[in-house]
Amino acid sequence: MPHSVSRCNALEILKKDHREIAAKFRMYEKLEDNDKKQELAGDICNALLIHCTCEEELLYPLAEKIIDQGLVYIGEIEHNSMRELIINITEDAPADKERDALIKVLSEYVHTHVKQEENELFPLLASGVLDLQTIGIAILELKLKMAERFRIISEFEAIGMPVAKMN
Ligand SMILES: [Fe+2]
Ligand SMILES: [Fe+2]
Repeated sequence: MPHSVSRCNALEILKKDHREIAAKFRMYEKLEDNDKKQELAGDICNALLIHCTCEEELLYPLAEKIIDQGLVYIGEIEHNSMRELIINITEDAPADKERDALIKVLSEYVHTHVKQEENELFPLLASGVLDLQTIGIAILELKLKMAERFRIISEFEAIGMPVAKMN
């Protein structure tokens, strides 16, 4: 097994993602160089897409079997709204000030969503019914796979060959 057991708990992995993404948003606020901001905006969007996909594919489907489906639906709807903002940021080529505004709205949205997950959803999933270690390992594998795919996409785009993005 490539990871220690304690590091593979699905909820801990997702909470670590939350903290890392929040740190990226804080870093964005401090930047002044627009090229660096644009690069970090892309990095934030990729991290969010990877995180949301892991939750949607590997956690939410199991969660809705054991807890109130309404909570899971809220999470899915919020993810969809985030994806719309992400498309505005990454594919609609916003001007610098517009991108700053979109990132600000996205960060507020993510902040609210994370609070909902960590305060309401995750505690209900920590009861021991789910095999959080196995889910955690699957999340780590999917994260790696998606990160590699995003890396390849950005390399293609850098040489002027746009490729279809996933999700
Ligand atoms: Fe989420
Ligand atoms: Fe999350």
